[in-house]
Parts: sequence; C-alpha cells; structure tokens
Amino acid sequence: MDKKFKLGIIGAGIFAEANMYPSLSLHFFDHVDRVAVCDLSAERAERLAGKYGWGKTYQDYHKMIEQEDLDGVIVCVGGKYAPDVSIGVLREGLPVFIEKPSSIYRDGTERIAKVAEETGLIAQVGHQKRHGLAYKRAKEIVSDKENFGNIIQIESKMHGFTVFPTFYTCMLEWQCHNLDIMRHFGGDISEIEAKSNRNSESTGALVGMLQFENGILGSFAWGTYGGPGQFVERIEILSDKGRGVIIRNACEVISYDEETGAHWTHDWNPISQNQSHVFNGYVYELLHFIDCVQNNKTPYPSIFDEVKTMKYLETIAVKAGIPVEWAPVGSAL
Ligand SMILES: NC(=O)c1ccc[n+]([C@@H]2O[C@H](COP(=O)([O-])OP(=O)(O)OC[C@H]3O[C@@H](n4cnc5c(N)ncnc54)[C@H](O)[C@@H]3O)[C@@H](O)[C@H]2O)c1
Repeated sequence: MDKKFKLGIIGAGIFAEANMYPSLSLHFFDHVDRVAVCDLSAERAERLAGKYGWGKTYQDYHKMIEQEDLDGVIVCVGGKYAPDVSIGVLREGLPVFIEKPSSIYRDGTERIAKVAEETGLIAQVGHQKRHGLAYKRAKEIVSDKENFGNIIQIESKMHGFTVFPTFYTCMLEWQCHNLDIMRHFGGDISEIEAKSNRNSESTGALVGMLQFENGILGSFAWGTYGGPGQFVERIEILSDKGRGVIIRNACEVISYDEETGAHWTHDWNPISQNQSHVFNGYVYELLHFIDCVQNNKTPYPSIFDEVKTMKYLETIAVKAGIPVEWAPVGSAL
C-alpha cells in the first residue's frame, strides 16, 4: 500500500469546523492520515480532533511540526494571523494550504509569497470555487475552444451583506472569491475601473469594469446588499462564437449557443460527490493540495496568484473610493 499523506491542521475555529474538518473526514481522504490539530484553544483543538478523528492536539504549531513527521499543513486561522503562521510553516520546511484570505492586507500576502519562492515549497490559497463542481464544469466547456470559441466577455455578480464592519472587509472576506473565479476564466488583469455608491461608512453598492491582459472585458457588481449564501452569485461567460455559459449560485450551469441551451445541476445524494462539501469545492481543493505536494505540481490558486488578486482588490477599492481598512469579523454570521 502507498504511504499515507500525513496532514496537520492549524486552526479549529468556526469555518474550519463547518467545512475543513468534515471534508477531511470523508472517504475521499482515505489516503490521508489525520495526524494532529493545533489551536491556541486546547478545548477547541481537542473537541474537533475527537469529533473528526485526528490523532493528537497541540497549542503550539512549531511543536506540532517538530514532533510529528508531517507532509503538509493546513492553516485556517484568519487573515490577520495567516501570514505569520504560514511563513512559520514554510520556514519549518513544509508545504502549506492557506485558507483565504491569506492576509488582511497585500503586504502580508507578499511576505508569504517571498518565503514560498525562497523555500520552493507549495503554498496554495483556499479559494474553493475554482474546485467546485459547477465552476469545474464551466471551465471544461470554455476550454474546448473548437466548440466554444474564445472568451470575449465575462459578467459577474456576487452580492454582499451588511454584517461586515467595513466595506473593504466585505470585499476581502467575501468578494475576493468572485475576483479569484473571474481571474480563473479571464487571466491577469491590465485595467480596472470601479465606482461605489456608499450610503454609510460600511455599506453601499459597488460596480466595476475589468480589462484582462488578453483583451477579455469583464464587469462585476458587488456591494454590501443582496444577502449572503449561494443565492447571490452569477457569472456569465460569452464567446466570439455566440456561445455562452452561465454559472448560477455555484451549483447550476447553463451552456448555450444562439438557439439552444443545456442545463446541468447536481443530483442530491449525500454519499456521492454531490454532497455540499464536494460540490462547493472544499473536498477538491484539499485533494488538489495533496496531489500537488505528492506529485510536485503547481497548485491553483497559488500564493503568487493571490498576490495579484490582493493587488487588484486593493485597486478596485481605491478606484471606488472605499477605504482599504479591514476589521475583525467572525464566520458565525
Ligand atoms: N472559503 C470560504 O468561503 C470561507 C468562509 C468563511 C470563512 N473563511 C475563512 O476561514 C478562516 C477561519 O475562519 P474562522 O471563522 O474559522 O475563524 P475563527 O476565528 O473562528 O478561528 C480561527 C482559529 O484559529 C486559531 N488560531 C489563531 N492563531 C493561531 C495560532 N498562531 N496557532 C494556532 N491556532 C491559532 C484561533 O484560536 C481560532 O480558534 C478565515 O480566514 C476566514 O476568512 C473562509
């Protein structure tokens, strides 16, 4: 039997409990040894380790890495602490999966990228949408250039919600996913325009335009109104062959030509790949991390992709007159 992948995880908070631990406990990870959980709170670490079958617990991740023979580490501690912890893991010689946001400001992400470059170790960022079933299906459709043609335009929206203490926090914690997924389809961005209609310090509407380096035009509508959850998300990708693909709420795909359309949605079956931790992308992003480490592949999105996303996000805020100011927010919204 092949050697199992020895995994450690730092962070036993609310989001990790809702998505990381349950995903990693599924049969998709039979090739993984859930070696150790580390959290500053011993109580949380012990509770989640017990509930999801992890071997040991630690409160100091340096100790965890020193004492366990790990192959990789997941960091899910929040953007404020993610740069120092991720750099600590890389400096200890281990590849790292960093739950988004990799930092609350761009300089933290750049610091991680610098150490990833120096050490040559894998640093993947957790933007699960790239690994979600609907977006993967859409990517397959648009990558078939002979049938689909070349992408000419991307329209995107992802409503926000008013719980965030600053407008930029909403963009960083939430709409960063939308920017990342637009980049997954469009590539690097050369020009950005954005406008906001703010009705308070922390709330308002935001729309913008993107010109991608390859000429594709993008438009997006974000803001802080419209609601949370999956029901706020829609992306349409148009080609120069009159074809298009619409991804609705991260779980439905409509592909069309000028006359007909085909509709794909996931089946509901709790033991198949259609359970929500899989179709939302958490399972596949974590499998992707392990595969990249085991087979020395470049992950997506990498920390180097994330440096660009953070730069674009900051530019969008500046162009729209939104202060680049983050404030703490919990996942229990
Ligand atoms: N991908 C998504 O769609 C999505 C959605 C919600 C939240 N998130 C992200 O998940 C991350 C975690 O969010 P959360 O709600 O679980 O946060 P949280 O504050 O509930 O948990 C963070 C945990 O990290 C621990 N921690 C902090 N520094 C540590 C250190 N140095 N060593 C060990 N443990 C440490 C804390 O004790 C805490 O238990 C955030 O980055 C958040 O943005 C992602």
